[in-house]
Amino acid sequence: MTIIEFANVSKRFILHLNRPRSFRDRLTGIFSSNTHGEEFWALRDVSFKIEKGQSLGLIGHNGAGKSTALKLMTRILEPTSGQVRMRGRVAALLELGSGFHPDLSGRENVFLYGSLMGFSRRDMLARLDEIVDFADIGEFIDTEIKHYSSGMYTRLAFAVATAVDPEILITDEVLAVGDEAFQRKCMERIYSFRQAGKTIIFVSHALEIVRSLCDHAVWLDRGEARCVGTADEVIDSYLQETNRREARERQRHTTAQSWEDADAEQSKRWGTREIEIKHIELLGPKGTPQDLYYTGEPLTIRYHYRANIPINDPQFGLAIYHGSGVHVTGPNNRFSGYPIASVHGSGIVDYTIPNLPLLPGMYYLTVAVHDANGLVTFDHHERAYRFTVRSHSLKTSYGLIELPARWVHAATDG
Ligand SMILES: Nc1ncnc2c1ncn2[C@@H]1O[C@H](COP(=O)(O)OP(=O)(O)OP(=O)(O)O)[C@@H](O)[C@H]1O
Ligand SMILES: [Mg+2]
Repeated sequence: MTIIEFANVSKRFILHLNRPRSFRDRLTGIFSSNTHGEEFWALRDVSFKIEKGQSLGLIGHNGAGKSTALKLMTRILEPTSGQVRMRGRVAALLELGSGFHPDLSGRENVFLYGSLMGFSRRDMLARLDEIVDFADIGEFIDTEIKHYSSGMYTRLAFAVATAVDPEILITDEVLAVGDEAFQRKCMERIYSFRQAGKTIIFVSHALEIVRSLCDHAVWLDRGEARCVGTADEVIDSYLQETNRREARERQRHTTAQSWEDADAEQSKRWGTREIEIKHIELLGPKGTPQDLYYTGEPLTIRYHYRANIPINDPQFGLAIYHGSGVHVTGPNNRFSGYPIASVHGSGIVDYTIPNLPLLPGMYYLTVAVHDANGLVTFDHHERAYRFTVRSHSLKTSYGLIELPARWVHAATDG
């Protein structure tokens, strides 16, 4: 049974531009016909369906039209063209500020919300304890809503909306404002709704939550449905596009910056220079430099060195730092059991990571070369290089690294 259907839905807003006009504009404005503002299509010809018991994730960049789509579902807005069909009692947690009356207390709002949903005062009284308990906002339940913090507001809104036994639950990124314990509590309740066969519409930028909660997804891109399908499909194609977009951005920013820029910043480079690190290259799976490197794929850090005199047993080392400053690793060829007998003249040293375990983020790289005892620094480039890691699909999303591990399960009784 189809619970929600968008059929060629478009939504146009008229923007009343208030920007100050120039003197000349004001003079010519009298003759201009465009005095009614500019139009803006927040949604354009969007179609999708949700069956009973499905959970649908709506994803997309800021301003893509997600909240607008939810407001059409809840009839806060009407479509400009096309049709929105809904079946069943909807509880919606939209952006802050919608739903509650600011001058009423939390308790009074509970009854008001109930009456809007068709519940009597007695019905709501029976649920009040549970609502107050879940919201856990203490004596603030008797304070006017306008004095609530955004976290308190969300706590109460979530508690009420999910207490009235809706058939469809709509949430718009609301959980982002709560603290972690509350977020967890909300997610548990949302999962139990799903288990109970209710229909869920979930808007979030937390793609891994969307992936695990939702079976279907719609990717909105500047008002258009770019991809409609299973959550995995839609999220993967969204991630791919985001990665490509970022790569293009980076290319624009980095073409001018070569890896040799380290020389420019003397403060970041020191050493006696018997061996010089002339140049560092980062190479991807095809052995060529990339704008982005991917979790799970090969990454090679290539030193191009020049030894101005013969040096025995040099130590090539490096350090990788996460963008937050955390030191992730600091290997060198000697610790790794790969001594280099001697160097004189130019050469290369490769440090190859067959399956990059780093999770998406920005990383800094320090490289150095020392003498056999680590006492003399020939050349040291402090955090002179930078690289970005992305993921084709996020299997692990917390922490810094993905360990090469596996899971095994065995039941021990029954
Ligand atoms: N009432 C309105 N009047 C004019 N423009 C609006 C109105 N509501 C939304 N818009 C515009 O429509 C576009 C889509 O907005 P919407 O809030 O649906 O985006 P969103 O996908 O929810 O973004 P976010 O991820 O930032 O929450 C935006 O450009 C927004 O400025
Ligand atoms: Mg929004």
